[in-house]
Amino acid sequence: MEATLRLDEQSEICIVGGFAHPDLTQAIADSIGIEQCELKQKIHPNGELYTRYLDSIRGKHVFIVQSHVSGEGTNVNDAIMQQCLLIDAARSSSAREITAVAPYLGYMRQDRKTKGREPIATRVILDQLASAGVHRIVTVDMHSPQAQGIFRGPFDHLTAQPLLRSVAAEEVQDLSAAECVVVAPDAGAAKLAEQHMRGLGMGMFVMTKMRDPFDNQKISRDTVFPEADGRACLLFDDMIDTAGTIVSAAEALKNSGATKVIVAATHGIFSDPAIERLRQAPIDRILVTDTYRTADAQHELGQQLRVVSVAETIGNAMVQIVRHGSVSRLFDDQNNR
Ligand code: R5P
Repeated sequence: MEATLRLDEQSEICIVGGFAHPDLTQAIADSIGIEQCELKQKIHPNGELYTRYLDSIRGKHVFIVQSHVSGEGTNVNDAIMQQCLLIDAARSSSAREITAVAPYLGYMRQDRKTKGREPIATRVILDQLASAGVHRIVTVDMHSPQAQGIFRGPFDHLTAQPLLRSVAAEEVQDLSAAECVVVAPDAGAAKLAEQHMRGLGMGMFVMTKMRDPFDNQKISRDTVFPEADGRACLLFDDMIDTAGTIVSAAEALKNSGATKVIVAATHGIFSDPAIERLRQAPIDRILVTDTYRTADAQHELGQQLRVVSVAETIGNAMVQIVRHGSVSRLFDDQNNR
């Protein structure tokens, strides 16, 4: 379901994007039929960022789109900083409302102390956006949805998982539900897997996963999962970072007799050595969205990787926000888990 903004609504809002992931910003703007407001942006020789709105934004609802990802010569921290600068500039230029759209919201995995004297980085980032002056945050499939509670304003948590589910279903359309099984690669993904189990009408199970406390790249698992034997396994997760989680899962599933392994995750981060691992992994298809830049991974992985766009999902939510409509209804409440 695609929704576009009426002309009178378009004149009330301004959408801009930083330089982390311009293609996604453009795709979101296209999906709701609006042109981006113009910005001047540059990086000073010493690495400091400069930004300025080239049009008046007085009285407008400004949507500042920035996925917290590395761009051309910039990194995740630059992306966050640039979004904060754009928020501050909007606030001091009399914007009526400021919404930060961060399809991938950075630092959400550091939401608690796992060892003494660590920061709670999730809180630092959300506090930073708040103190810059943002009114609302929109993101997609946060690692820890409970972190929304740190931010005191409206928080729209969107999900790309129903979209991934329908694409994953296409991958096994020649099989019956009994010949397939939904798999959570670890306990953290169990709630997601439950939603997919219901949505697909298949069985499910949760795999054990232990990270080595001294080297978190090292993962150990049970070696045999009898439920996988003779079935196509559909693994769902929120992200693929170094791919240690899903590659170790896929290997265990294949060793347990899985006929096919399909992996679906919202955020295709693909940090080193993900590509190398995935190339050699017994995974038939990897499905991710475009919250991250995926051109390099697509080039390296070819047909093994299929990227689906979340632009329309985000665009539809923005239309609901502008119209004071329900965002949860767009997802049948599956965004709240
Ligand atoms: C873990 O709890 C997350 O949901 C992901 O499974 C994990 O962060 C993926 O990281 P990697 O791909 O590096 O194993």
